[in-house]
Amino acid sequence: MTLKPLALFVKHDGQSSRASMTCQYKCGNACFHEVSNTSDGGYFGDIVSTLSRRGVLKGGAVAVLAVGAGSVLAACGDDATTDPAGSPGIGTDFTAVAPNTRDEVMIPDGYEQQVVIRWGDSVFADAPAFDFDNQTAAAQAKQFGFNADYAALLPIEGAPHKYLLVVSHEYTTEPMMFRGFSPDSVTREQYEIALAAHGLTVIEVQGHADSGKLTPGFGKYNRRITGTTEIGFTGPAAGSDLLKTSVDATGTKVLGTLNNCGGGVTPWGTVLSGEENFNGYFAGEATDPTIAARHKRYGVGKVDIPRHWERFDKRFDVAQEPSEANRFGWTLEIDPWDASSTPVKHTALGRFKHESAEIHVTDDGTVVLYMGDDERFEYMYKFVSSKKIQSGNGAAARRHNMTILSEGTLYVAKITGDHPTQIDGTGEVPSDKGFTGTGQWLPLLEARADGQSKSLVEGMNAAEVAVFTRLAADKAGATKMDRPEDIQPNPKTGKVYVALTNNSNRGKEGYAGPDEANPRNQNKNGQILEITDDHTGTSFTWTLLLVCGDPAAADTYFAGFDKSKVSPISCPDNLAFDPYGNLWISTDGNALKSNDGLFSVVLDGPNRGETKQFLTVPIGAETCGPIIEENRVLVCVQHPGESDTATTDNPTSHWPDGGSTQPRASVVVVWKKNGGRIGR
Ligand code: FEO
Ligand code: CA
Ligand code: CA
Ligand code: CA
Repeated sequence: MTLKPLALFVKHDGQSSRASMTCQYKCGNACFHEVSNTSDGGYFGDIVSTLSRRGVLKGGAVAVLAVGAGSVLAACGDDATTDPAGSPGIGTDFTAVAPNTRDEVMIPDGYEQQVVIRWGDSVFADAPAFDFDNQTAAAQAKQFGFNADYAALLPIEGAPHKYLLVVSHEYTTEPMMFRGFSPDSVTREQYEIALAAHGLTVIEVQGHADSGKLTPGFGKYNRRITGTTEIGFTGPAAGSDLLKTSVDATGTKVLGTLNNCGGGVTPWGTVLSGEENFNGYFAGEATDPTIAARHKRYGVGKVDIPRHWERFDKRFDVAQEPSEANRFGWTLEIDPWDASSTPVKHTALGRFKHESAEIHVTDDGTVVLYMGDDERFEYMYKFVSSKKIQSGNGAAARRHNMTILSEGTLYVAKITGDHPTQIDGTGEVPSDKGFTGTGQWLPLLEARADGQSKSLVEGMNAAEVAVFTRLAADKAGATKMDRPEDIQPNPKTGKVYVALTNNSNRGKEGYAGPDEANPRNQNKNGQILEITDDHTGTSFTWTLLLVCGDPAAADTYFAGFDKSKVSPISCPDNLAFDPYGNLWISTDGNALKSNDGLFSVVLDGPNRGETKQFLTVPIGAETCGPIIEENRVLVCVQHPGESDTATTDNPTSHWPDGGSTQPRASVVVVWKKNGGRIGR
């Protein structure tokens, strides 16, 4: 195994490196506002522990292939290796990429890369060629959207090396899209282009036998879902008054999906997508103080987003349509195998700033879905289905499986540390066994199909818990975390990993202080939580796997691994697993003066905690949507060139096309020269 000496960064004088333009358009300046969670906590609820045997699944194609311990969720469809997880170097044997600020994707020696698809590339044969200076809404609706985030790669049955690539488009950055953009004079065309640049893309891609290369093609599955696509609601809030507006008196359908961030692939072959910072599209405030207070818990009505969509459609004006914002902030399920299908927003999964939606299946076929609410001091959730998965690819099984996320119990996490007297906000590791503790899943909502859904929170009905889940979780006494992003079960072991990206306000006056799972004040670099969950039950144990940052700094921890041999890592965001059970982490907002990157982390054996940078992305970009297959790695390169000094006339990045071109968010694939296995 090779491990190059790493250039360590020792400066700790900054916050996350995100540009203020990114903050403004992506999340409505969530980090500059007061935090949305002003609750003081306080626990009630009963704790029931039901042991279940661990089970994991293999899926990602069109069918449920198997349910049972030891198999692997392998979206690649490649055969899982029989190498034991955690064997030193298995899957992580590559020369680490040093931290850098180059305007390119840097990959290890011996690897090759290709841009698969960029903002504006054609998704349909009749899409016009991308023309930055003459973009239209009609063109954008047939082209790849802006700011790619989540990616899924689903093998097409019976078509060798052919896949569906499903990608979410988190948000638009109008000053990067339109020359001379001004909030004072947003045009209808700009508004319609932006709506069409949101949502998701489904596109067929052709792989190759001898490399990881992927070539987009025009096939029957190709589809754009945008900010105007009709989408249905399922679950306890569907049809409730809380979802009714002047254009939808039924409260059962909504136009579009917005701010689609992380997601997940279900074992039955559909794709989940989390609507995250949806508040950033709504202007104004509700006049009713109860409604305004509920909106405030989500940051609706207090952001000044220069998109000004409310000038073109009153649904984005909270004063005129106070319920429209309630119709965003959900987890969406789309069936990429039917381009005419109507996606659904699952209200049983709760409403918050959804980051991701990753599934573990127990041996009896119960679906357990883990979800993060990405804002400072927000919570971790799980949903346990009451229905079991049906195997096979028949129409009946498929119909059944697509109802699984409508019925079950929604929980939020409460965490307790083992060493409360040793946590002082410095990040000093408790001397005996690291940061460890226990946890409880507090029940919030029992979703039933027969209209008999039950609130498990006093003073709220079932629809209210579904729509104002943050308020229900406050009442239950959930633990305030350092921005829960991706939460992902390891298909090899069933352990669940949480990326807690950072929290500049932890420990500041007036905010929650440090606790064992969030042990650093003004946490700039984030941490990774490892949960051993009783998946269908309500108890768990946990440990911090990584306390991220400069390995040379005292406040970092790499599961006890030799810190002189790891890559600096900061602001973990998305998680994925390779076929051997190693964890891979992409970052967003590196606070160590390097570009963001993708890292491998060994989880088991003597090298547990060994962290290596596999790639870095260009200037201003974050790394998203990693997929780690046996023979290829995919990442989405989001918001390249977004910086406070960038203009369309003077871009700070020219990636991927070079020269004097505008930066374009893209999907990139990396493979080993000569077609070898990644990290082997
Ligand atoms: Fe879209 Fe939490 O990042
Ligand atoms: Ca993210
Ligand atoms: Ca993930
Ligand atoms: Ca992030």
